[in-house]
Amino acid sequence: MPRKRAAIAVVGMQWGDEGKGKVIDLLAENARHIARAQGGNNAGHTIVISGREFKFHLIPSGILYPHTKCYIGGGTVIDPSSLFAEMDDLTRCGVDYVKRLYISRYAHIVFPYHRLIDKLSEEKKGGGAVGTTGRGIGPCYTDKVNRCGIRVADLIDEQVLRAKLHLVLQAKNQELVRVYDHAPIPEEPLFEEYKEWGRRLASFAAPVEEMLYVAAKQGEKTLFEGAQGALLDITFGTYPFVTSSCTLSGGVAAGLGIGPTKIDETIGVTKAYTTRVGAGPFPTELSESEQKNFPDHSAARETGTTTGRKRRMGWLDICVLKHTICLNGVDSLALMKLDILDHLDEIKICTGYKHTPHFPATLEGLWHAKPIYESHPGWKSSTRGVRSYNDLPSEAKAYIRRIEELCDVPVSVISTGPGREETLWLDRFIDE
Ligand code: GDP
Ligand code: IMO
Ligand code: MG
Repeated sequence: MPRKRAAIAVVGMQWGDEGKGKVIDLLAENARHIARAQGGNNAGHTIVISGREFKFHLIPSGILYPHTKCYIGGGTVIDPSSLFAEMDDLTRCGVDYVKRLYISRYAHIVFPYHRLIDKLSEEKKGGGAVGTTGRGIGPCYTDKVNRCGIRVADLIDEQVLRAKLHLVLQAKNQELVRVYDHAPIPEEPLFEEYKEWGRRLASFAAPVEEMLYVAAKQGEKTLFEGAQGALLDITFGTYPFVTSSCTLSGGVAAGLGIGPTKIDETIGVTKAYTTRVGAGPFPTELSESEQKNFPDHSAARETGTTTGRKRRMGWLDICVLKHTICLNGVDSLALMKLDILDHLDEIKICTGYKHTPHFPATLEGLWHAKPIYESHPGWKSSTRGVRSYNDLPSEAKAYIRRIEELCDVPVSVISTGPGREETLWLDRFIDE
């Protein structure tokens, strides 16, 4: 009997920006529902269609197909100004999202004081700063856990918003003044601005949890779009250089309010090398001379989608992948950006770290991790536009097979360029 896989989670296996948006966009062609479970507009997912670029931060990357329904789940944090800017971009591109975009009432709202505290607390940390995206994500999740957050359900009720904002703003202003020596934020204009956002958001608020439950009952194809990557997970990432939500497949269930048995399959998205944006340990980071052999950041599309920062680049790290495959219960890997390695003489894979069989749990252990490298000959030819797996250069096939062997997980998708058509499917993920 063919395996039932109506619901697929697509999650990042490294430090984010693995190419999740591209994978979701491709799978969405045959899906009905696409949902985001966590994170906010710290995410930046890029899709390239016939040379045209689309960037998503909070709206699921499946929205470009008119047959899909897209959901922003209760575990996310929503900055209304950014969300509506994304909607306006879609309108300009002729994409109709009305009656196709649903937002959970449980999601928390990002306020300007979150963005401000994000920035001020990073400044205060100086050299120890996390290098956040500055979108107020951490402070918003802090309020959620501290039980003083304001949710979509509160925002769309003017009286509740008034009462909650009054209380919370008093505390925030004390913090701004006393801790950061910053001017307080006046209440009235903030209330007026957010009341207006609430009015606009109201028509999108929906019982997302129930809608996804019904979709699952009916066996309708559903995609869960991960944001960030496993090493940015709040619990199991390279803490404290992490984001503030659960970025793992388990976070999909918690963030959307669906049972874990409703996820049939998990695809782990990884680059054929490694990148990280922001501060924190990165054991396989390229040396300056190694970096020179790679295409530059703009040619490699390694400039952050959200903040425009250059991403740090490194060799593929199997120690990372084994750790994150385990954390996510990954069924197969989508191996992205193989083409970026096209012109290298030598390609290295880190097969483990000296003196430790496990991925280090401490920053100390990670800063001092000594990668053990295996060297592979480069294929020195373009893989872009290659139409079938068999047409890949033999060295590229050997590289892929070695990754599968080391990870003990099959590769189901190989990506050789940003475009939709620059993709090789070893498994089509379509129900028989
Ligand atoms: P996400 O956050 O995981 O969705 O990834 P991003 O969109 O932030 O970053 C991935 C970048 O690589 C984007 O600019 C993509 O267009 C691009 N990209 C994705 N797959 C490939 C690929 O196979 N080759 C190349 N050259 N670029 C790719
Ligand atoms: P996508 O979904 C890459 C990183 C930031 C910083 C850390 C904490 O596009 O893969 P935050 O603003 O979340 O408090 O920042 O997490 N970060 C990402 N890095 N891709 C992302 O999302 C990221 N979202 C957050 O750079 O190091
Ligand atoms: Mg990204």
